[in-house]
Amino acid sequence: MTTTLGVISSGRGENLRYILQEERSGRLPARVGVVLVDQPDAGALRIAREYGASAYFLDPAGLSREEYDKKLIAHLEAEGVQLVILTGYMRILSPYFVRHYRDRILNIHPALLPSFRGMDAFSQALEHGVKWTGTTVHIVDEEVDHGPIVYQIPVRVLDSDTHDSLKARIQRAEYRAYPKAIKMFIEGRPRVQGRTLVWQTEEKN
Ligand code: GAR
Repeated sequence: MTTTLGVISSGRGENLRYILQEERSGRLPARVGVVLVDQPDAGALRIAREYGASAYFLDPAGLSREEYDKKLIAHLEAEGVQLVILTGYMRILSPYFVRHYRDRILNIHPALLPSFRGMDAFSQALEHGVKWTGTTVHIVDEEVDHGPIVYQIPVRVLDSDTHDSLKARIQRAEYRAYPKAIKMFIEGRPRVQGRTLVWQTEEKN
């Protein structure tokens, strides 16, 4: 059975591109049903249209967080979305939204959580002097960059790294991590137990 994804983004949409490519190649047991963005110039909108996926800009102007999230939910439900995928979505979801899709929202963050939550995880890693950082796909809960971890890929920090070189390597890891995590999540049907996941099928990472 194919799972219907709803992707929500504020940004470039490169993760979306790799998810769409995996979908089109038949390697993902899912289809992107709808892409929703909160910025009229979000790259994700252009990428979605390039691939023929339905995509909408939903204007947050004048709406409270919950009012906006109700609008998102209406679009996601109209497309029969079963799993919500955040890619560079810069608004904090309301508790209402998180409750509505409890344990069915994934996010990707460019660090090995719980390290370096929030903005500019690349600078945070460089300033801290860590030797390894990476990327994390996690379930979204009420706190930012916080819910149970689905999948991680570590990335070495080199002495010669600049913000941009580290960012580029982490983002390349993200393009492998997100489609893989989505596939694992759909096929493995994990149950959340505290901060950990209990997989129904053997985890293949
Ligand atoms: C990704 O690097 C993702 O990890 C980051 O936004 C970027 C979106 O890129 N998200 C966060 O920092 C969330 N805390 P994209 O729009 O090209 O997919």
